[in-house]
Amino acid sequence: MLSLDQALEQAQVDPQLVSVVDSITITCKNIAERLRGGALSGLYGSAEQENIQGEVQKNLDVISNDLLKQVLLANRSVAGIASEEEEDVIAGNEEGQYLVTFDPLDGSSNIDVNVTVGTIFSILALPKDCTEVTADTFLQAGNKQIAAGYVLYGPSVILAITTGKGVAMYNLGADGVFYQTQDQVQVPTTTAEFAINISNQRFWQAPMQAYVNDLLLGEEGPLGKRFNMRWIASMVAEVHRILTRGGIFMYPYDSRDPSKAGKLRLMYEGNPMSFLIEQAGGAASNTLQPIMDVEPHHIHQRVPVILGSKEEVERINRYHKA
Ligand code: AHG
Ligand code: MN
Ligand code: MN
Repeated sequence: MLSLDQALEQAQVDPQLVSVVDSITITCKNIAERLRGGALSGLYGSAEQENIQGEVQKNLDVISNDLLKQVLLANRSVAGIASEEEEDVIAGNEEGQYLVTFDPLDGSSNIDVNVTVGTIFSILALPKDCTEVTADTFLQAGNKQIAAGYVLYGPSVILAITTGKGVAMYNLGADGVFYQTQDQVQVPTTTAEFAINISNQRFWQAPMQAYVNDLLLGEEGPLGKRFNMRWIASMVAEVHRILTRGGIFMYPYDSRDPSKAGKLRLMYEGNPMSFLIEQAGGAASNTLQPIMDVEPHHIHQRVPVILGSKEEVERINRYHKA
């Protein structure tokens, strides 16, 4: 079976980039081991401090962030990092050519209940003319990403990755090596499965309300078919399900905090997941434009996220144009 390193070598991926991916996957194996220990690892519970997003951090948010930070900054190919859990970006090594943004642990509310969580990453190139790595250096649209992926900590540990030539999936073997299980993953174009936190319905804008109402009408409604619903509350697990069997995932704008464009973050969640979904033939939109076309203005910027099976994402876009 093809290992991750063999596959990247066969695809003639830049060795510097391979080393960045290795740093991430080595750290994720470490995180996976801690998660497997559960309460025995002493990692459950709250860290009793807030991150820059105004969210109370879990112990494992802090530990995963520290581990990734430490390993990536020790890698000579890394020019800088930005994390959902860090207020400021951190410059890396002078000879580094790559910038890494990451959500060290996605789905934090699921840690203590032993439900699937994951690590999401995005890799950008250091601009040629860059003399000093600052937050502005990272403000590149998603369509500039060189690579992106996630490691899912579920019943098995799975890596999904793209370097812009389709999406491949790997399973972590008992020997600690990621082996390829799928190449050129494809998201089915149509679907009858959706994921949205419906408890926020009253805060959505009118087009989103109209779409979900029509969808819930099933065979009798304008969409003409019954939809099934899933909500795991870990975007990483929802995206994995969609890459596996199709579907749509929505975290739209809502008016709970009008100053925020959505709940999810463009640089750590929206862009990497959109890159994977588009590379697998799906679509990702903020309801007005493809997420990867959004020009970032702030490293911690939020974005409405609609992604998954192409036909359904396009339908939601039409509801917003009407
Ligand atoms: P994070 O744990 O990195 O803060 O992200 C959680 C996100 C995402 O994974 C998930 O889809 C969503 O928040 C869950 O939101 P609800 O609390 O509305 O279920
Ligand atoms: Mn997240
Ligand atoms: Mn997180």
